[in-house]
Amino acid sequence: MYTPAATQVHLDEAVRATPFVQTGIAYGCDYNPEQWGPEVWAEDVLLMQQAGVDLVAINIFGWSALEPRAGEYDFTLLDTIIDLLHSHGIRVNLGTGTSSPPPWLTTAHPEILPQVEDGTTRYSGGRQAWCPSSPVFRAHALRLVERVAERYGAHPAVVLWHVSNELGCHNALCYCDDTAGAFRRWLEARYGTIAALNTAWGTSFWSQRYGAWEEIHTPRLTLSSRNPGQALDFHRFSSDELLGYYRAEEAVIRRHSRVPVTTNFMVTAHIRNLDYWSWASDVDVVANDHYLDHRLDDPTTELAFSADLSRGLADGGGWLLMEQATSAVNWQPLNRAKAPGEMTRNSLSHVARGAEAICFFQWRASQQGSEKFHSALVPHAGTDTVLWKEVVELGATLTRLREVVGTRVVADTAILFSWEAWWAADNESRPSKAVTYLEQVHAAYTALHRLGVTVDIVSPDADLTGYRLVVVPALYLTTDEQADNLAAFVAAGGHTLVTFYSGIVDEDDRVRLGGYPGAFRDLLGISVEEFVPLSPDQAVRLDAFGADAFGADAFGADAFGADATGTLWTERLRLASAEAIASYADGTLVGVPAITRNRHGSGAAWYLATAPDHTTYRDLLRVIAREARVTATGPENDGLLEVIRRVGDDRSFVFIINHGVSDTVVATADGIDIVTGDAVTGTVLVPAGAVRVIREETAS
Ligand code: GAL
Repeated sequence: MYTPAATQVHLDEAVRATPFVQTGIAYGCDYNPEQWGPEVWAEDVLLMQQAGVDLVAINIFGWSALEPRAGEYDFTLLDTIIDLLHSHGIRVNLGTGTSSPPPWLTTAHPEILPQVEDGTTRYSGGRQAWCPSSPVFRAHALRLVERVAERYGAHPAVVLWHVSNELGCHNALCYCDDTAGAFRRWLEARYGTIAALNTAWGTSFWSQRYGAWEEIHTPRLTLSSRNPGQALDFHRFSSDELLGYYRAEEAVIRRHSRVPVTTNFMVTAHIRNLDYWSWASDVDVVANDHYLDHRLDDPTTELAFSADLSRGLADGGGWLLMEQATSAVNWQPLNRAKAPGEMTRNSLSHVARGAEAICFFQWRASQQGSEKFHSALVPHAGTDTVLWKEVVELGATLTRLREVVGTRVVADTAILFSWEAWWAADNESRPSKAVTYLEQVHAAYTALHRLGVTVDIVSPDADLTGYRLVVVPALYLTTDEQADNLAAFVAAGGHTLVTFYSGIVDEDDRVRLGGYPGAFRDLLGISVEEFVPLSPDQAVRLDAFGADAFGADAFGADAFGADATGTLWTERLRLASAEAIASYADGTLVGVPAITRNRHGSGAAWYLATAPDHTTYRDLLRVIAREARVTATGPENDGLLEVIRRVGDDRSFVFIINHGVSDTVVATADGIDIVTGDAVTGTVLVPAGAVRVIREETAS
């Protein structure tokens, strides 16, 4: 694994912050008082108290107010707001204010503006108009951070530092000359010699051999597709570059404050530019922003995935949901309002999965600016609204849930997830543009979610000990160490399902020869001669997909459906030591295995060579989960019911979330529903749209 260059600022462990103290589930929001006047602020703090809001992120976009002209600072507004919040018992999550440069800076130094891949500049007038490698931007930003940190570093209201905002949301990939220089230095640190770089990038292809570092550029648009090694390293570099920037701000803060520092990650479907596995240990507490994305088939299940991944980044511990929307956002083609109760269900789905803060963008809906139609805790219509009522109720519910803080989600199933594999798999030239990494990950997650199985999302480098089942969807780029890690897990008795387009290349995007999937060929006991992708409207039937293949005793005669199909992808696969579980019944590969299983040590390694329909995926994982002795935390269902357990040393809680339109009865241990205060014996009725959180009397 690559380690960021030693020249980047790295804090000594000894000066790391005190931990973020959680006495309950924090309830909060971004607060942008600069958009309003003092009479509104006075009302704001009273309403915050009414709702139970106790953690407020301010100064996120504060730069142009704090430093109206170069080197001239005005802290009047920020002083007033921090004191006002403090006097009302509201804790401050203090932004460093650097997320968007003020117009005077971009006017004086247009060289800080970012360039996109065609080499054209993106201007100020929006936000985040800065190049992550710009030394000029960094110098100005750090000067501001210094002033903010020295002024408020010891202020009793400040409990958390919020570096910049969603680093890399818009500007992660900059293609300017400053970036090219930084990229070259990064490459030199990674490869040492230009010869090593040429080998890694395979530059003998298309006459791309470099003779000197100066010849290398950012991967700007070309006439043909670009060198995939260059593109992959540019992603790695860009993630490290922003991490270096984060560290630089953190180092300045640390000179003045022991308060924990974080920044808001974007573990979400449409942003993929930062490898948060490499960031996670740098933040004092993991914070994530999540917005339902209605461009996806199932935004609510994607929320669950994002929350499970956030917990993975927090190493299984607590994390903070730093932003979500109370209702609609403003940046999708159709911005859907949430149904009554949906905000609460979304929030508790995060809490069930480890979130110990529920925060929103933003406090009061803006009257002006690009986000004026984005929902907020206080809507344009004011507080005599269904939304505000739910905001107040959610605050009360979170207060009642304070005792879950410190408990942990326990899962015996994991999915391996890798940003590096995502970057490499979705590169320009590939077997099928219809196959995308995240969709394959989501498909595996959805099948497990529907089976009622709680899933950890972990890095392929994670210690897999303790899991019963590890699912490996489309892990196209796999290092030798990662392949060994999985093989050792299976040899020791674990079960795995590896899906197609996994283990194809090494960390340099170099194909592993001798039959796909090179990294997992021995583990899976198969060899693939050729990929045979299907067009998006094509499907092939899967045969021999019944109990016979296993023996009826093992899985039950109805373990698999009769109408199983595969889509998007097939391959000419040959068995080595594996057995065929299902084969193609039509198409050009009739009789070729589509699903296989291989004994390896004391465990079993399954392979899925196609993208099955939802039912078949679930059927398959049901069988594998049973074989692996996975414990489901809830009943199998169509995704409308979620049951998740959080466990502590002396207590445990079961969250039951009913997204459906019918009331449902769920079996539980005896206990107390801490949402309603009612006693529960054996079963609980969860009304349509409601959430119940049972404190179990006896952990079952
Ligand atoms: C986030 C951002 C917020 C706000 C929000 C709107 O990306 O951090 O400032 O823009 O989206 O959904």
